[in-house]
Amino acid sequence: MAKVELIGLKKYFGHVKAVDGIDLEIKDGEFLALLGPSGSGKTTLMRLFAGLESPTEGSILIDGKNVNDAPPRERGIAMVFQSYALYPHKSVFKNISFPLKVEGLNKEDIKKKVEWAAGLLHIGHLLERMPSQISGGEKQRVAIARALVRRPKVLLMDEPLSNLDAKVRHMAREELKLFQRDIGVTTIYVTHDQAEAMGLGDRIAVMNAGRISQIGAPDEIYNEPSDTFVAGFVGIPPMNFIEKDNVILGFRPETFLPAELINPPISPFSKGGLRGILKGGMGGLDIMKFKFRIERVENLGSYRLVYGTIGENKIISNLSARLVLKEGEEHEFCVRLNDIRYFDKNNGVRIKK
Ligand SMILES: Nc1ncnc2c1ncn2[C@@H]1O[C@H](COP(=O)(O)OP(=O)(O)OP(=O)(O)O)[C@@H](O)[C@H]1O
Ligand SMILES: [Mg+2]
Repeated sequence: MAKVELIGLKKYFGHVKAVDGIDLEIKDGEFLALLGPSGSGKTTLMRLFAGLESPTEGSILIDGKNVNDAPPRERGIAMVFQSYALYPHKSVFKNISFPLKVEGLNKEDIKKKVEWAAGLLHIGHLLERMPSQISGGEKQRVAIARALVRRPKVLLMDEPLSNLDAKVRHMAREELKLFQRDIGVTTIYVTHDQAEAMGLGDRIAVMNAGRISQIGAPDEIYNEPSDTFVAGFVGIPPMNFIEKDNVILGFRPETFLPAELINPPISPFSKGGLRGILKGGMGGLDIMKFKFRIERVENLGSYRLVYGTIGENKIISNLSARLVLKEGEEHEFCVRLNDIRYFDKNNGVRIKK
């Protein structure tokens, strides 16, 4: 277990600024999800950590010690790649034990450690098989067991689940989180799948063009995005945007609802009813109304995505209610003011209102 710090870290490949000035502190035992689009520098950052690349500028500290010049094996870092990179002609046992053998451990110790790692990943029954005789999900566990067997201080994972089908992937995600908590290894997990980042990360760092746009707890990233890049990258579907004068209004699809849902008819129980409360702005329940032209309704089982426009802006609503919304018609929709985020139109940076 270890604390990791990056200070002014840069990696340029010629004129390509793969990593362009990153300052980051990862706490001991933390699970940090590194989220960003293709080419944003995630893998390069992992390779810098692991010592597979050397920085153009800046430092990497593990438990306060600068490891810039330390060779990969001495950093106490293990890495799991997207391609599991198992040795095809070695059994699962031999794959997992390989790093220990290189270290020159005796047979008895090797056996104990392999059994510990295999137990953790629930692959104890596969030890005698060859990689060609196990499933993709099992291969991925073998790769993780191999990474853990030396008890690394830091575990780096670069899209380790992206080769798995959706269901296995979801299960693997749950297990990953459990064993990471169990052994408390500081983990940096690269993904461009935001659901994975939200579900796994204690914190999420969102990368864009070699820099970190925002770092924070999943809720914070989702609800309080620092700019239009983060707001537009996180969320499926992402935040809706409407340009108004010099400001961009942003709101999440699930906060954009038909007026009849957000502004129910007058309650028989109180004078003025809910409508009165809404108008009075109690508890931030003020609303902004829009004419929403509905273009397409996509039924996804437990919810529906309603695609349409407000003026020139393409907008999506995520609805669980079964209202009749006809394609081609205009409908009154609204958003609570509380759910609207404002961004500067020139640079996309969040404006606090
Ligand atoms: N060895 C290299 N030489 C030159 N350019 C490189 C090298 N490695 C990476 N790059 C460039 O650096 C940028 C960041 O690449 P990187 O692989 O870190 O992105 P990534 O975020 O991992 O993307 P993905 O999600 O597609 O894996 C890209 O523009 C890439 O082309
Ligand atoms: Mg990558």
